[in-house]
Amino acid sequence: MLTKLLKINCTSRQCTFAKPFEAIPGPRGPFGLGNLYNYMPGIGSYSWLQLHKAGQDKYDKYGSIVRETMVPGQDIVWLYDPKDIATLLNERDCPQRRSHLALAQYRKQRPHVYKTTGLLPTNGPDWYRLRSQLQKELSAPKSVRNFVPQVDGVTQEFLQFLRKSQQDQVIPAEDMLPKLTRLNLELTCLLTFGVRLDSFSAAEQHPKSRSTRLMHAAETTNSCILPTDQGLQLWRFIETPSFRKLRQAQLYMESAALELVEQNMQNPTKSASLISAYMDNRHLDRYDVVGTAADLLLAGIDTTSYASAFLLYHVARNRDVQQRLYEEALRVLPDPKEPLCADNLRTDITYTRAVLKESLRLNPISIGFGRILNQDTVLSGYFVPKGTTVVTQNMVACRLAQHFDDPLSFQPDRWLQQRNALNPYLVLPFGHGMRACIARRLAEQNMHVLLLRLLRNYELIWRGQTDAELDVITLLINKPNAPVLIELRSRF
Ligand code: HEM
Repeated sequence: MLTKLLKINCTSRQCTFAKPFEAIPGPRGPFGLGNLYNYMPGIGSYSWLQLHKAGQDKYDKYGSIVRETMVPGQDIVWLYDPKDIATLLNERDCPQRRSHLALAQYRKQRPHVYKTTGLLPTNGPDWYRLRSQLQKELSAPKSVRNFVPQVDGVTQEFLQFLRKSQQDQVIPAEDMLPKLTRLNLELTCLLTFGVRLDSFSAAEQHPKSRSTRLMHAAETTNSCILPTDQGLQLWRFIETPSFRKLRQAQLYMESAALELVEQNMQNPTKSASLISAYMDNRHLDRYDVVGTAADLLLAGIDTTSYASAFLLYHVARNRDVQQRLYEEALRVLPDPKEPLCADNLRTDITYTRAVLKESLRLNPISIGFGRILNQDTVLSGYFVPKGTTVVTQNMVACRLAQHFDDPLSFQPDRWLQQRNALNPYLVLPFGHGMRACIARRLAEQNMHVLLLRLLRNYELIWRGQTDAELDVITLLINKPNAPVLIELRSRF
């Protein structure tokens, strides 16, 4: 069976011989009834919260391409080989994703608010229309650089917020993650709506404040995406607990998005913002703008916060890396009271960039990326039919010795010395191709500013667990599995 070759008729790819789809190794579950049971708490050996471990286990058992039957008729093909990942992510036409299905259903039920299901879950021409209109302001280098003064200002306020009293030379270790989430909420709202939430203020730290509720609603929504995307999808027929949680969280985010769009329109002195630019775009209407606002709130907060938390964890644990970062920060910001110059970020922060890249290699915020094949394809010599859900396993692949020397050690220098020798389809923290993260440059810029400002002012000391690496739990995106305890010592 394994050696039986199948001649497939490829229209747009080179015609080739391939082994049949059914021959791809992988778990099918008892009697071929599916492996979903294996993810059930207390029954199976996998967990939705530890998808990277399930990914590693499947690689160890079956190799670099795996076909997992979740329920009969619903297969996922997992890819670990960068050649296959390149084939998948370089698909022509509109790449399709199969995720955020319950979010799409929620939005379809509310046609008075949304015209489409938004960038995250939508596929086909609707996605293409939106993406091409939203792209310039979020992705073009010049547009993104224009945000530097605002990002720098908020990041400096963030440093004040970390410091309980001006006299403190040492800020004792507390979990950095909730603080970073406030920073990224503040930045997302300022850049998206031109509105300050003041989320560092005492009032906004209250559990019932708008900031705290928004942070909570974003994380709740993200944590409901995987459980509703996978398996039997009973929420299509009855309101399951996961769907209810998602709906309630989205109702809150939607009301906040509507209020912030309104605030943006009412404020004649507002600073440049994405929503003002989108309002002026005659190819977008108010429905598009509100849907986009909701998407940016959902996609912008936890992603950057979790990535920043892992970044600070690696920096705090690696003294030599920290020293070199400090030296770079000192060159870029000789006077820490002066504003950060956008041009410096373009040319003078080579080491800072390498540190971020290395952190995202070891701790990407997603295990990989999913696509629904839009044409018959050959992967690792197997025929995979159009319509199949295929998901890459970049996180596991990035930790394999066959791809990186000493793969588990944190070595930013590999991005300075051996960059050209590294396969470009392994470290893809923002995805790749037309469907890659629309805010990649913005997110990277925000994290560069954070790193430079923090390192210019403080020495970071890791005070968290030392007996084991900080691991992840997957709430759609990878969150640190333990508090990110970092002590900060003033450099002045
Ligand atoms: C460290 C920060 C971030 C990381 C690592 C990240 C990563 C990703 C990844 C992996 C994807 C899917 C790519 C693919 O399927 O090929 C994605 C999509 C997306 N991201 Fe990000 N992201 C980050 C920050 C942000 C921010 C700050 C925003 C918005 C303010 C944002 C908005 C989006 C949107 C709207 C999409 C869907 C794009 C589409 O389907 O066309 N992301 N991101």
